[in-house]
Amino acid sequence: MDKSVPAWLADAVFYEIYPQSFADSNGDGIGDLEGIRQRLDHVQSLGCNVVWLNPCFDSPFGDAGYDVRDYRKIAPRYGTHADMKRLLRDLHRRGMRLCLDFVPGHTSVEHPWFQASCKPTPNKYSNWYIWTDSVWTGAPGFSTVNAFSDRDGQYVTNFFWFQPALNYGFAKPDPAQPWQLPTTHPDVLAMKQEMRDIMRFWLDLGVDGFRVDMAPSLVKGDTDGAAMNAHWGEIRVWMREHYPNAMLLAEWSDPAKAIPAGFHVDFMIHCGTPAYNSLFRAEKQRTCFPWSEGVTSFFDASGNGDITIFLKHWQAAYARTRELGYISLPTGNHDITRLSIGRSEADLKVALAFLFTMPGVPTLYYGDEIGMKYLPGLTSKEGGFGRTGARNPMQWGEGRNAGFSSAAPSKLYLPVDTDPERPTVAAQENDPDSLLNFVRALLSLRRGQSALGNLGGFDLLHGKTGSSALLYLRKNGKQRVLVALNPAAKPAAATFPAKAVNALGENLFGRQLKLKKTAAGWQVTLPPRSFAVHAVA
Ligand code: BGC
Repeated sequence: MDKSVPAWLADAVFYEIYPQSFADSNGDGIGDLEGIRQRLDHVQSLGCNVVWLNPCFDSPFGDAGYDVRDYRKIAPRYGTHADMKRLLRDLHRRGMRLCLDFVPGHTSVEHPWFQASCKPTPNKYSNWYIWTDSVWTGAPGFSTVNAFSDRDGQYVTNFFWFQPALNYGFAKPDPAQPWQLPTTHPDVLAMKQEMRDIMRFWLDLGVDGFRVDMAPSLVKGDTDGAAMNAHWGEIRVWMREHYPNAMLLAEWSDPAKAIPAGFHVDFMIHCGTPAYNSLFRAEKQRTCFPWSEGVTSFFDASGNGDITIFLKHWQAAYARTRELGYISLPTGNHDITRLSIGRSEADLKVALAFLFTMPGVPTLYYGDEIGMKYLPGLTSKEGGFGRTGARNPMQWGEGRNAGFSSAAPSKLYLPVDTDPERPTVAAQENDPDSLLNFVRALLSLRRGQSALGNLGGFDLLHGKTGSSALLYLRKNGKQRVLVALNPAAKPAAATFPAKAVNALGENLFGRQLKLKKTAAGWQVTLPPRSFAVHAVA
């Protein structure tokens, strides 16, 4: 691994917390930093050691905090700067780390920079956002808003209308559109400097890194990616010099681009590529962003999925990046349905056995450790729309609001799942077969076997169109581990080359495999919905 990648990433396991919904310490119906601090035992017991917090900064919360009003202020509903310091102190005492969500591409329309930028008279902030030069002129290829203020122009938005794009310039400004500034324009550079100072502000407080929202989309019209590479390359060099232990984690969903551009880790997720969706969220009801009607997820009991959609993409990205950084395949996140949708506990165990035995940094979305359900049909909250059902309160135990909050149920940020069968941490705690204890055992196995670790190598043994079996070797030095998975509700046969494995060793997790040597190589039949992890010689 490249020496400039923080060494701690070799053992990192991320835990994503949507702060609104994790733990409410003051009974106002919404989660807060102190609530998170009080639940660190739980996070640590899972084997997770890095908390990624969705934006916790001052915001009008039109998009759950991805519309920042003040990058340096903790949103009062989550607590104070002192609460953030306490959380950091306790995480660090435990040998854990904190990753904040950095939203460099846009602010809220309520941000003072944007308010100043809206003024018709030129000022320091006029060019900090992308404005066309007339209220009647749009920006082809971009969403714009017109007549928002007295300024004669339309502003470019990045996501919702109230998230105006900060101005990183255009890779190739069109001379016929003089409002398109070059990336070297002094106002662009001034804005970038301010964003860097914001990173510095949090890093100086002790934060261990940032997840960067919409990382590839800052410079506009950057068709070949050169301008974005240059931007993240500069940030990486600056971080290496001043904060060599801090991590840059991308929301890019294309590790083969994000990691060479300068990120240490990239999520391979639902946006951008079909790879992740083809594993878990191919069907319309399993994702909030329909992409491929007619395709079945590989991790589906029907056994009709096609693992090669994922493998083709992931193997290419892995080969390109394995010496430079890490790919993260998350169990889910705040933008998509829950992994549990349409899956039984047995199905979930096979999916998790895959996610936690792959190379790269694993990411667990809060609640997935107990199989929390996606709640369909909730009224949208804070720009959640279809995402809302994956953002409801964590289910800790029995008692009021499943232990999330002491507030009256009508005061909660989002309703708690009312299903009497809903999973809870307390109910799963003492059940050795629970999903919770399965996650703990699997992550502890991963930590104990370097071959299964973030840096361990990967060789595909069996993964083909038309087969629900997936077999691979993980390896580190002499240690080699075989992983075999079958998500289908029927048995699956697989064959792999005899030379790949001399003999099966100890069964480390899941089923005991039986290999049969034939002229075609090793043959194995995997039982329905099964997983096996074996040492091999
Ligand atoms: C975040 C979303 C957010 C959007 C706009 C994303 O990709 O994950 O939750 O709505 O960026 O900031």
